Amino acid sequence: MAPRSVALLLALACGLGKSTATVESESFDYIIVGAGTSGLVVANRLSEDPSVTVAVIEPGTDQRDNINVTATEAFGLSFNTPMDWAYSTVKQRDAGDRAFGLHAGKAWGGTSTINGMTYIRGNVAEFDAWEQLGNPGWNWESIFSYFKKSEKYTIPTDSQLAAGATYESQYHGFDGPLHVGYVPSLENGSFAPAVKDTWEGLSVSHNLDLNSGSVRGFGMGPQTLDSNLNVRWDAARAYYQPVEHRPNLRIIKGTVKRITWASGGCKKGHLVANGVEMLTDAGKSRTLGAKKEVVVSAGALRTPLVLEASGIGNPRILKSLGIETRINLPGVGEHLVEQPAHFLMFSGDLGSSSASAYHTYLTAADLFGANLAAIEAATRADIPKWARAAADASGADSLNVRGLEKLLHIQHDLLFKHNVTAAEVLTAIAPGSVLASNYWTLFPFSRGSVHLGSRDNIDEPVIDPRIFLSDFDLSTLTAAGRFATRFWLSEPMKTQGSVTGPVLSGDVDLPRNATDAQWHVYLRDTAVANSHPTGTASMMSRELGGVIDPELRVYGTANVRVVDASAVPMQLSGHLTAALYGLAERAADIIKRTTH
Ligand SMILES: Cc1cc2nc3c(=O)[nH]c(=O)nc-3n(C[C@H](O)[C@H](O)[C@H](O)COP(=O)(O)OP(=O)(O)OC[C@H]3O[C@@H](n4cnc5c(N)ncnc54)[C@H](O)[C@@H]3O)c2cc1C
Ligand SMILES: *[C@@H]1O[C@H](CO)[C@@H](O)[C@H](O)[C@H]1NC(C)=O
Ligand SMILES: *[C@@H]1O[C@H](CO)[C@@H](O)[C@H](O)[C@H]1NC(C)=O
Ligand SMILES: *[C@@H]1O[C@H](CO)[C@@H](O)[C@H](O)[C@H]1NC(C)=O
Ligand SMILES: *[C@@H]1O[C@H](CO)[C@@H](O)[C@H](O)[C@H]1NC(C)=O
Repeated sequence: MAPRSVALLLALACGLGKSTATVESESFDYIIVGAGTSGLVVANRLSEDPSVTVAVIEPGTDQRDNINVTATEAFGLSFNTPMDWAYSTVKQRDAGDRAFGLHAGKAWGGTSTINGMTYIRGNVAEFDAWEQLGNPGWNWESIFSYFKKSEKYTIPTDSQLAAGATYESQYHGFDGPLHVGYVPSLENGSFAPAVKDTWEGLSVSHNLDLNSGSVRGFGMGPQTLDSNLNVRWDAARAYYQPVEHRPNLRIIKGTVKRITWASGGCKKGHLVANGVEMLTDAGKSRTLGAKKEVVVSAGALRTPLVLEASGIGNPRILKSLGIETRINLPGVGEHLVEQPAHFLMFSGDLGSSSASAYHTYLTAADLFGANLAAIEAATRADIPKWARAAADASGADSLNVRGLEKLLHIQHDLLFKHNVTAAEVLTAIAPGSVLASNYWTLFPFSRGSVHLGSRDNIDEPVIDPRIFLSDFDLSTLTAAGRFATRFWLSEPMKTQGSVTGPVLSGDVDLPRNATDAQWHVYLRDTAVANSHPTGTASMMSRELGGVIDPELRVYGTANVRVVDASAVPMQLSGHLTAALYGLAERAADIIKRTTH
């Protein structure tokens, strides 16, 4: 073959098209899109080499002095303030036709700056499943040392231990940038024995360390905070502030609209990025050059939008938006998994002067008891139906039914063969007789999507998690709600806290003797979203609908990576940041090793 036609073929493999940017005002080796939880880890590690320049682009601002951020007991105060994207989903057909609110951080530190700070990683088998999904070398064993690398654990004080904190030091890191520990006010907790005896009476054992890779049971979860200073430790405090003096590292204010491609931009059949186009606050367009790589860390609800605006995604969707397809990658924005959650408040009073939270993780056997075998079989039998429903909703050219069935079978094995936990119940006790349970389904079988709504508005994702598309998600939430109720109404908690029952809000009713069917009606009307979205640019084989390879590189590109919750291919029995800090630490090592 003549060299000319080889070149033509390569150009065709990458899609024809002109360079999208040739002139840029400034260049860096790496451009990171988003100064969030994962992005700042990568920025810190890549800029360790003083000869490498790194720019992080972020529309949010520095919130280090904001009391709503620093105060460890201020959870929720930053909701719906300018540092919360405060997204809304499209109306959810199977959840009362309601739109769900989704919080996400817009700040240096991203969502770690507004979140609940719980630090829990997940179960061993859940990380091992990543390997099965087409990622050789990604498993609990290989990520564990990165969990430790990121963590700086503070051993609880004697009075915190007396109040219920427990730990096993072999599961913790002590030299990382991320402070993990317990709030000082925990020292006044006096109800630990009642909580313990009540859960144990329900056959739920005390878990000495929720970060061991086995989360079943109940325990007090540590949090991402400095327990001496009593200050939140978000990604900005942990990974940016200590290195902000580095001359080779910069945060630039703006919103990335799309990745730009080099002219003739092909390297062995792969598209080569040469920078990004961003919007300044004044709405001006500006391009920045990336000499080595672009790392997209805009979060699970935003990363797919940046890819789509750059011509990476499902050609049908891109065409409808008027975007030229550069890489046909229909998994972009698909496989969105969001956990349905619910709150119940209980009437009673424990006379508490401090706040405590206990995390209880329950397996399918705990939740379904004598019905376990029937639920296991029914769930297996329904997989083709749920896969078909999700594919029908997304379009069969977006979600491949066979791939999705395979994925849901792996999830089914996790739940019913590996006995990973299926629901979390968070029991909260706070001053002012607050007795509350927040519980959620950890592994929904529903799959949703998030896509760009229009070519020119990168700030408005169209989010459709398809809450309760699978009735397993609803049955699990019901079983968790029953468990939470049983906890408050069992001894010794019932008497010690003078608990009389749940306090229902609104005009919906949930009778004490409610049937499953009544619970379902109630939950469809009152469930909320957990704001733990994952999977929208999954690290997974292309055959399964994946978007990035095991080196976190977007399929079809030479130098674009995704590092954030979009990469997580299946949910976790944890609270995501613990896992993401480990993922991003490992990703940074991989990027250093494999950048050409
Ligand atoms: C209310 C709430 C409570 C939570 N509680 C906990 C908890 O207790 N423990 C826990 O571990 N996890 C919790 N989570 C989940 C966890 O915080 C997130 O999953 C995690 O922080 C996500 O990290 P990320 O790196 O994927 O994205 P993010 O941290 O969200 O970072 C994305 C960043 O990209 C920026 N960005 C977006 N679009 C663009 C663009 N086009 N150009 C440039 N920048 C862009 C955003 O502004 C943001 O700063 C909670 C989440 C919420 C919302
Ligand atoms: C803190 O939170 C409160 C309640 O949401 C809000 O009114 C206030 O503006 C916030 N303060 C800052 C500095 O963000
Ligand atoms: C514990 O309670 C006592 C008495 O109410 C109070 O003085 C003290 O400040 C509390 N300690 C903490 C750490 O909250
Ligand atoms: C899972 O639980 C079942 C019983 O419910 C048991 O037979 C099986 O051995 C367990 N599997 C694992 C991997 O623990
Ligand atoms: C629940 O209790 C009410 C009032 O006692 C009764 O009318 C109703 O039939 C009961 N429902 C079920 C499902 O047992």
